[in-house]
Parts: sequence; structure tokens; C-alpha cells
Amino acid sequence: MGIVGNMHKAHPFADRWNHNTRWYPRIGEIVSGHQVVLDVGCGDGTLAGHLASLGHQVIGVDRDSTILPPDAPNTHFMLGDAVSLPFENDSFDAVTAVMMLHHTHQELALVEMRRVLKPGGVMVICGTARDRAPSEMLRSLADVPENLISRVGTTAWEPGTVKLDATQSWRQTRATIFEMLPGARWERIPGWRYLAVWQRPDTDQRC
Ligand SMILES: C[S@@+](CC[C@H](N)C(=O)[O-])C[C@H]1O[C@@H](n2cnc3c(N)ncnc32)[C@H](O)[C@@H]1O
Repeated sequence: MGIVGNMHKAHPFADRWNHNTRWYPRIGEIVSGHQVVLDVGCGDGTLAGHLASLGHQVIGVDRDSTILPPDAPNTHFMLGDAVSLPFENDSFDAVTAVMMLHHTHQELALVEMRRVLKPGGVMVICGTARDRAPSEMLRSLADVPENLISRVGTTAWEPGTVKLDATQSWRQTRATIFEMLPGARWERIPGWRYLAVWQRPDTDQRC
């Protein structure tokens, strides 16, 4: 086993590796200190379970009733649509969404996710977009060798969730996030993904 393999052995999702699970530990770090988390488009609840194992209380919502897992310690799963979340304003300390946003009306979902986040809370979005500009295609090409390297020492795993190709470009998606979440940080991360993090200002009465 080489250095890369050993590195991945230490990753909590080395035995359930995909381009979403690889980022769960990073998401866990970002929401650290934020007790009650809503995971939107939670799928089979793997991220929710990870966050619960870190001590969070997690509610997972998904619009696909067939994928929702049973409740588990510190996790509750329910049917819900990102564009009309069944929660009061200012309900959650953190809101996460992994590979959900491109499945839905992005602006409406962001308005809702923002609405249910408490002032001072943090939102983390991990998603993908479509290569439209040559620069976007070039950037995505760089993910090809990285993908091969990242898999060394891991076991590939795919949950049975609905998959969909993105239609909006990287540039459009980033612009939408900046427009809906002023002050958000956005970065392109390996695995044909972006990571966006937004902290709702403490003084923000209502967006
Ligand atoms: C590619 S899967 C990702 C699942 C999970 N977040 C993960 O990290 O593997 C996308 C999920 O988002 C859900 N989804 C898509 N649009 C949604 C919406 N508008 N409201 C709630 N869930 C939605 C789908 O049903 C699916 O389970």
C-alpha cells in the first residue's frame, strides 16, 4: 500500500467512497459547533448518520420517499421538498445539501434553505454543474487524473439515490449562489464538485 492508499485508509469513508462521501468529513468540520442540522436531499441518510456520529442532531428531508431510511439515534428523516421546506423560519443551526441543488429550482431552494437557517447559522452546499465554457472543460479535465489517484486504497460505493446531470454551467451556478447568499465562499473542489459555504449574519433579521 502506497502513501495515497494509506492516506485513504484513514478516511472515514474509504470503504464507501464516492465524490460525495469523500467530502462528508470536510462538511462535518464546517458545521462543527452547530448543533441542529437540516440535510436537504438527504438520500439514504449517509451524511446525516455521519453528522449524528459527530454529536449533531440531524433532520434529513428528501422528496423521494423510497430512499428515506428509518430514524436512528439523533437522526430523523422525513419527506420534504427543498422548494417548500416544512419548517418554521430560523429553525436550524446549519443546513447542508449535497448534490441536491442541480435537481431542483436552485433559487427557490436557496430561498427556503436560507429561510430555515438561524441567524449566525451556516449553510454548506456541495454540488456539481455543467461544463459550458472551454475554461470549465479544461478545469474538469484536471479532475480525471485526480479521480484515479483519489480512488487508490478505497472501495467504490454508490447509494441508490436518483442521479441527474446538471444543466447550469459552473459560472451560472456560482452566480446564483452569490446572488442568493451574499458573502458566500465558493470553491471548485476535486471530483467535479464545488463547495459553497455561507454564514447567515447574526444581525440578519430576515433575508
Ligand atoms: C444525487 S442524490 C444525493 C443524495 C445525498 N445528498 C448524497 O450525498 O449522496 C440527490 C438527492 O436529492 C433529492 N432531491 C432532489 N431534488 C429535491 C428537492 N427538491 N427536495 C428534496 N430532495 C430533493 C433526490 O431525491 C436525491 O435523493
